[in-house]
Amino acid sequence: MKNIVETILERRSVRRYERMAIEEEKKQLIYDAITTSPTSHNGQQFSVIAIEDQEIKEQIYELTKQKQIKTCALFMVFISDYHKMDVYAEAKGLKLQPIQQTLDGILVGAIDATIAMSNARIMAEGLGLGCCCIGYIRTAAPEELSRLLKLPEGTAIICGLTIGYPREIPDKRPKQEQSLFIHLNRYNDEGVAEKLEKYDDVIGRHNESHTLARYIPWSQQMVDYYEESIGKHTMAYFREQGFDIDKEPGL
Ligand SMILES: Cc1cc2nc3c(=O)[nH]c(=O)nc-3n(C[C@H](O)[C@H](O)[C@H](O)COP(=O)(O)O)c2cc1C
Repeated sequence: MKNIVETILERRSVRRYERMAIEEEKKQLIYDAITTSPTSHNGQQFSVIAIEDQEIKEQIYELTKQKQIKTCALFMVFISDYHKMDVYAEAKGLKLQPIQQTLDGILVGAIDATIAMSNARIMAEGLGLGCCCIGYIRTAAPEELSRLLKLPEGTAIICGLTIGYPREIPDKRPKQEQSLFIHLNRYNDEGVAEKLEKYDDVIGRHNESHTLARYIPWSQQMVDYYEESIGKHTMAYFREQGFDIDKEPGL
């Protein structure tokens, strides 16, 4: 087991894996990390589909085109989950307000699921495994994937995590300077444009010397990413799964 400081500070996304299964004890530790996550009001508004079945991984790859899903040993899909509570409320005759039809309810499920994913990732990386978060699981074809995974109403896909023994450890990706993340006492945007201009070039050169093999500045990647994101239909997907904020009381 690596120490926690090294585990967190040496993190990078790993997308290529050895074809090796993860030992049962390690998997159990990852599951334990998931179940001890802090959650909003201790409501535990999330759950996880753990996928080892190669055929299902291949089907998910076909829908998302994220290669690491078919080569990883374990693929986990983190979902926002109000279904559990709905089932229990019905069995107990409890009257529940439709919290999932509020923006805050949507955020709560997404935050609970994301914190659980982070816990799983840190545990896996501490155990010598490599991980990559997969947002495309929510954006590429969420309706088909929800059918494939048999997700009931009141659940929605938030993010995926591929886990496996690393075949290669890529160089760490440079990040923005710390003052752009951490403000002392109050928000301070002094010098943001100048600092980001420097970062643009750092990433441009990193892209040139790494997998993209071309000078593409960070801002160009962001322009492309935001443009691609505008075409997503995540709200429509959430509505289909029973998360309809147009019905939020007070709107
Ligand atoms: C919420 C989230 C979703 C992501 N989705 C994907 C994805 O679908 N495919 C992928 O290859 N990487 C994905 N990533 C990984 C990012 O591309 C990666 O974190 C980023 O490029 C920085 O690189 P680093 O993790 O090595 O520091 C995702 C990361 C996060 C946090």
